[in-house]
Amino acid sequence: MPSTLAAVLGIDVGLLQSGMGGVAGADLACAVSNAGAAGCAGGYKLVDAALSAMLERLATGTDRPVGVNLIPEVVGPDELDHQITQVLDETPERVYLSLFGMPEDDAVFKRIVAAGRQLVVQIGTVEDGVHAAERGAVVVAQGIEAGGHLLGTSQRDELVAALRAELPDTCLVASGGIGSPDEAARALAAGADGVLLGTAFVVAHESRAHAYFKAAVTAADQADTVITDVYEIGWPGRRHRVLATAVTSDPEQAKKFIGKTVVEGKPYLVPRFSSAVPTDATTGRIEEMAMYCGQSCSAISSEISAADVVAAYAHVLPGA
Ligand SMILES: Cc1cc2nc3c(=O)[nH]c(=O)nc-3n(C[C@H](O)[C@H](O)[C@H](O)COP(=O)(O)O)c2cc1C
Repeated sequence: MPSTLAAVLGIDVGLLQSGMGGVAGADLACAVSNAGAAGCAGGYKLVDAALSAMLERLATGTDRPVGVNLIPEVVGPDELDHQITQVLDETPERVYLSLFGMPEDDAVFKRIVAAGRQLVVQIGTVEDGVHAAERGAVVVAQGIEAGGHLLGTSQRDELVAALRAELPDTCLVASGGIGSPDEAARALAAGADGVLLGTAFVVAHESRAHAYFKAAVTAADQADTVITDVYEIGWPGRRHRVLATAVTSDPEQAKKFIGKTVVEGKPYLVPRFSSAVPTDATTGRIEEMAMYCGQSCSAISSEISAADVVAAYAHVLPGA
C-alpha cells in the first residue's frame, strides 16, 4: 500500500506548499511547516550568498521538515549542481529538495537520495512520473488546472489516476486547481496520497506576492485565467496559466520596460512579457505582469494566514 504524504515527510497534514520563486520566501515556508504541513521556499533565482542567506533563514525559522524548490530547466545542469551542493552542505537533513520538472541527468536523483534527503519532483506526464518514482522521488502530478508553468497537457485527476495505475506503491501528490478541502478530497479519491497548493498560498499574509496580485487572485474566477506563452522573457518555450491581462489579450504590444524589482538586494528592470512574478519589491505596471494563477482561484476569496490555509485542510489530509 502507498504511504500517505504526511507519513513519508514526517508532517501532520499531508499538504505541500509550492516553492514559488519570488513569492514563497523563508517566512511563508516556515509558517506552513510550523503549522504542520510542508513549506517550501523558492530557490531557483538564488545562488551563492543570496541562496545561503535564504537557507539560513529557512533552517532557523522552523525545526520541522521544510523544502527548497529548484528549477532544472531554467538554471541548467551546472548551476543546478551548484545550488544542490549548497543545499546539501548548508542545511540539516530535514530540509527536503523539490524540483519543478525533470533534471537532464539521472545523477541528480542519485546524489540527493544518497545524501539521505527527501526528493519531491513535479511532473506533467506519466512517463516522467514513472522515471522520477523509480529513482526514489515523491511524485507531484501537475494538471493543466495549475497556476504557473505547465509541465503537461492532462487534467489533474486523469494524470493522478494514470500514475496510480502504474505506480501502486509510490507516494503521489496531486497539484493543480485545488482551492478547497472538497477539491483536495476529489484528488485523493483519484488516487493521490496528498496535495500541493500554489495559488492558495499566493494570498497568504506571509507570501511576498504584490498586494495588487493578491487582491486580483481573491477577486478572480477560473474564467479569468488563461493558458498562454506570452510571458516568455526569462523562461521561453513553456506555457503558463496566468490571470488574463492587457498583455495576454494583445501580445503585439511594444517590448518595453514596465517596472522595476529587487531580488535578494539586487535591482532589476522588468520588461513587458517578463516571466518574473510581481512581488512586494516590484513597482510599475503590475497589472500587466505575469500573475500566475490556477483555476483554484474560484474557491479562494480572502487573504488569510498560512496557518489558516493549512488548518482548513487538516481534516481531509490526516497525518500518519
Ligand atoms: C505564483 C506562482 C508561482 C509558481 N512558481 C513555481 C516555482 O517557482 N516552482 C515550482 O515548482 N512551481 C511553481 N508554481 C507551480 C506550482 O508548483 C503548482 O504547479 C501550481 O501552483 C498548482 O496549481 P494551483 O496554483 O492551482 O494550486 C507556481 C505557481 C504559482 C501560482
